[in-house]
Amino acid sequence: MSNIGSYEQRLKDFDWSISEKELGYKKGDNINIGWYCTDRICQMGNGDKLALIHQDHLGNVRNFTYNDIRQLSNTFAAFFVKLGLKPGERICIFMDRVPELYISFMGILKTGAIAQPLFSAFGDESLFTRLDNAKTSAILTQKKHLPKVRKILATLPELRHIIVIDAGDASLKEREISFDMEKEPRVDKFDVYPSTAETPSVLHYTSGTTGQPKGAQHVHYSLIGQYLTAKWVLDLQPDDIYWCNADPGWVTGTSYGIIGPWANGITQAVLDAGFNAEHWYAFIQKHKITVWYSAPTAIRLLMKEGIDLVRKFDLSSLRHLCSVGEPLNAEAVLWSKEAFGLMFHDTFWQTETGAIMITNFPGMPIKPGSMGKPFPGITATVVDPRNFEPVNNPGTVGLIAFRPGWPSMMRSYWNNPEVYKNKFKNGWYLSGDRASIDADGYFWFVGRDDDVINTGGHLVGPFEIESALLEHPAVAESAAIGKPDPVNMEVVKAFVALKPGYQPSDDLELEIMNFIRKKLSPLAMPQEIEFVKSLPKTRSGKIMRRLLRAQEWGEPIGDISTLEND
Ligand code: PRX
Repeated sequence: MSNIGSYEQRLKDFDWSISEKELGYKKGDNINIGWYCTDRICQMGNGDKLALIHQDHLGNVRNFTYNDIRQLSNTFAAFFVKLGLKPGERICIFMDRVPELYISFMGILKTGAIAQPLFSAFGDESLFTRLDNAKTSAILTQKKHLPKVRKILATLPELRHIIVIDAGDASLKEREISFDMEKEPRVDKFDVYPSTAETPSVLHYTSGTTGQPKGAQHVHYSLIGQYLTAKWVLDLQPDDIYWCNADPGWVTGTSYGIIGPWANGITQAVLDAGFNAEHWYAFIQKHKITVWYSAPTAIRLLMKEGIDLVRKFDLSSLRHLCSVGEPLNAEAVLWSKEAFGLMFHDTFWQTETGAIMITNFPGMPIKPGSMGKPFPGITATVVDPRNFEPVNNPGTVGLIAFRPGWPSMMRSYWNNPEVYKNKFKNGWYLSGDRASIDADGYFWFVGRDDDVINTGGHLVGPFEIESALLEHPAVAESAAIGKPDPVNMEVVKAFVALKPGYQPSDDLELEIMNFIRKKLSPLAMPQEIEFVKSLPKTRSGKIMRRLLRAQEWGEPIGDISTLEND
């Protein structure tokens, strides 16, 4: 039996106080995510339970119990206080996925400071933009990333402390200080900052597929949403071994790679290594992963490696699969059923929403290619872009909109109140994505508003075209954009990366064209297919259609600081 039970029943009875009660929280109480995810679990008698199974890129495994992460996060917190860091100051986490990343995140929150996680793969410019924007006071990093911090230090006067977690004998410079979590005497008792619902907690910079990165500012009350969505959507249960393969530089890696599972007292496994299908399957097999939260890009890369590889491993521990971050094409859902005997459940949300908003719930019939239905307590619709009124017509495409007021919603964009204000129209929060809702209430993703292609006045979403392309056996990845056209304003152009064993050729292009002709309306048919080795993506795995489009139109490419380049 899944945690959510009957979706229909939950919809009828729903109130966010369900989550508050389970967490023992009442309006006006203190609420500190760091305390909830560590001390509370220990107080409930689960101090000896494993909180974190950590495997590094060499295959070394380290285990941490809830009592370990409670004490070690206290140790971090006490150190921050000793350094003079105050509640509300921003402390950046700039580390690979080492245990210190997860544990210091809790330590920061326990002091009332704001955690600002960033991808350790960022170059010095991307790092600078975000530290400068947030006026960050301290940064936690590793020796290997120190040169990037040193390079920009002179222009960051507010950055008082550079905390190096593995300095060893390395000689440190001005403003740098060593802190080795394992060598410090453990702090058993720390006075957790008495944060309340609206106390800022996490500052997450958006992926930057469109425009300049913006810092979405979250609060401790977000826990109410993250806890319950992790329980009902990811279906986390006491004996689960859960794996979220997202990096905490991305919101998935914090909301559901730290807070959600730990608030639920679940054992989570972390693999600090890049994508490799064989290593991933071996990781699932070794740690007997039961619940896996992944992303379409990763799933498509696994598909590219083929099903024979899957068969070499015993993946029978898997019980529930979820996906986020990009549209999950029907083909990928059907493939996962064949490969793992389980369908991936799509989940839709954003850095700004802080938690899952629309999803295929466990037990609900999945319509492959659909994102599913709104989480109970979330009022979701699609609105007409002209008047921001709900379209109320099954199948009609509009802008995905949510009624503001859910617990984990961002409270502002850092230093950018104007852009924040612009996200709201006619009493709705606008996500910036397009979708339609069918007669059964399922949401169908069309594309990001700025990715929609306008051909002869008709709007075509890239997802429909890409999904059709991905059904062809030779196609591993695809992106559809509008290219300039004197008659139709735009026509569709598709970029395609092929699976191993296929070579680009005119014949193959023709074959793919013929293959998708039957599936797509004439308007959506690409006029051109360009074969590429791979597609430009953000570090969170999103295809940067904006970049392909700018190249096609000869326009400036804008901010590409989140571009994956290794
Ligand atoms: O365009 C949507 C896409 O990712 C955007 C949000 O990105 P980010 O802030 O990085 O957060 C992603 C996950 C927390 C959305 O506006 N997106 C996310 N999930 C889906 C999706 N597009 C289609 N289907 C999804 N399930």
